[in-house]
Amino acid sequence: MDNKKLIKAAIDTLQYSYAPYSDFKVAAALVTSEDEVYTGCNIENASYTPTNCAERTAFFKAVSEGKRKFKAIAIVGGKSGILDHYCAPCGVCRQVMMEFCDPETFIVLLAKSEEEYKTYTLKELLPEGFGPVDLGKESNL
Ligand code: THU
Repeated sequence: MDNKKLIKAAIDTLQYSYAPYSDFKVAAALVTSEDEVYTGCNIENASYTPTNCAERTAFFKAVSEGKRKFKAIAIVGGKSGILDHYCAPCGVCRQVMMEFCDPETFIVLLAKSEEEYKTYTLKELLPEGFGPVDLGKESNL
């Protein structure tokens, strides 16, 4: 899966963001080891704390359909959906990535457009992360 295609899938999903309280619209596109793409948007709530981030929406959609091996995620977001900044994943989303991804190889693309993006490994965004191996799990796959 080419980076531009994954970013385009995230940008195309931004229209579904449900963010009536913050007006901060976020979307993500997650690619599995078999090159299937699962998209997600943020979903806010009048009670605030039930809000789900775009990244976790994408992961939970994929995991709930039996997918557990992932290569990369593209993330876009901004106030009113204007992509003039890079939108970094929150700590909770980084932790969810840690559950299902190899931090050394999983790629996080932060994009402003299909042409303008930054590339990180999960390990760069979550150094010394706590994950399944710390509880003696060899693999969660
Ligand atoms: N948000 C995401 O969807 N992903 C992130 O990584 C950062 C924050 C959402 C949650 C909330 O709906 C809005 O952005 C403002 O925090």
